[in-house]
Amino acid sequence: MDYSDSRHKPHIIGKVFIAVFLIVLCILITKKSPDPSGASLLSLHVPGATHVLVTGGAGYIGSHAVLRLLKDSYRVTVVDNLSRGNIGAIKILQALFPEPGRLQFIYADLGNARAVNKIFAENTFDAVMHFAAVAYVGESMLEPLRYYHNITANTLVVLEAMAAHGVKTLIYSSTCATYGEPEKMAITEETPQVPINPYGKAKKMAEDIILDFSKNSDMAVMILRYFNVIGSDPEGRLGEAPRPELREHGRISGACFDAALGIIPGLKVKGTDYPTRDGTCIRDYIDVTDLVDAHVKALDKAKPRRVGIYNVGTGKGITVKEFVEACKKATGADIKVEYLSRRPGDYAEVYSDPSKINRELNWTAHYTDLEKSLSIAWRWQKSHRNGYGSP
Ligand SMILES: NC(=O)c1ccc[n+]([C@@H]2O[C@H](COP(=O)([O-])OP(=O)(O)OC[C@H]3O[C@@H](n4cnc5c(N)ncnc54)[C@H](O)[C@@H]3O)[C@@H](O)[C@H]2O)c1
Repeated sequence: MDYSDSRHKPHIIGKVFIAVFLIVLCILITKKSPDPSGASLLSLHVPGATHVLVTGGAGYIGSHAVLRLLKDSYRVTVVDNLSRGNIGAIKILQALFPEPGRLQFIYADLGNARAVNKIFAENTFDAVMHFAAVAYVGESMLEPLRYYHNITANTLVVLEAMAAHGVKTLIYSSTCATYGEPEKMAITEETPQVPINPYGKAKKMAEDIILDFSKNSDMAVMILRYFNVIGSDPEGRLGEAPRPELREHGRISGACFDAALGIIPGLKVKGTDYPTRDGTCIRDYIDVTDLVDAHVKALDKAKPRRVGIYNVGTGKGITVKEFVEACKKATGADIKVEYLSRRPGDYAEVYSDPSKINRELNWTAHYTDLEKSLSIAWRWQKSHRNGYGSP
């Protein structure tokens, strides 16, 4: 008896110890406050549900892409350092899709490789849409190193994390600025890429890195080269709200709206002697709703070991004068226009040949009425004078 008792005691003590340990663990787990975004749900694969990492999802185009992905039942993780994006856009998206496990926001800088790796280790992504970037041509001339770092080096960080964690699909945001100043219009995907500013060069280098990596991997890659993006969500939930300090580098639509709102005295059109139909520069304006549709189609058609490169534009060139007229009609404001001499580095004419994306991804631009796109964007601008700050 004595013998058998002394033999069983440690065994029983061990069992009691394990039971106590498990009870304490259960208490700790159940006491842990529930995560309202259902972030832990996004760390698991859900069969049939694609989980997309959207870098730069708090920005203008990224937030519109997140809205579309969520509407189409994708699960989304946004990573953004909010250097240029808006947490207000994320809050709107979270209010629209509050179900746990649909959308999580992670505040992080893509330049921080350790943070990026941790994000990939803690989540199970099926695909990455890499929008995050600084994106102003003028600023890139003043701060080239910032552009090479933010665009080229950070793309490398994202690719390395994808490779290390087995994420096999990449949709990359590139730009027509990678073509530079082509002699022949319209621009096809075969038009030589000779970028003429650090923004275009940094994007071209990022493309090259992606292409080189893809040669020896089974990654599915889609590179989308956007032309000039305009417009906003037709249902008025999201808009374009760059930081006020970036206005000086801003794009023509932002400047038109600022002039219509009286934030700036008027518009300065630089160059009236270009060899175009009215002497002002010609550009190809693509509505953001069509652009995000191209992303979803690209994601759908992405195939392992295949690279797709596509221009995303309307194929229609519009002059600056025509743009300003459309903006005047859309806003109803008599925008003052000052005509000045050419700005160095501007090219006369840029428009896309979108036939490859039409053919291969079955994508066509539908929002091709410039005045209508601007009216939609203007509605949001008018009711959000402080951007996402306060209406
Ligand atoms: N807007 C256009 O007309 C246009 C045209 C061609 C290509 N693009 C490309 O589309 C993408 C999105 O542009 P956008 O107009 O929405 O710009 P945006 O500035 O509105 O959005 C970019 C987002 O990326 C985030 N970001 C920047 N650096 C980051 C970093 N290091 N880490 C984490 N987040 C970071 C910003 O905070 C912001 O939310 C960019 O890659 C841009 O080059 C835009």
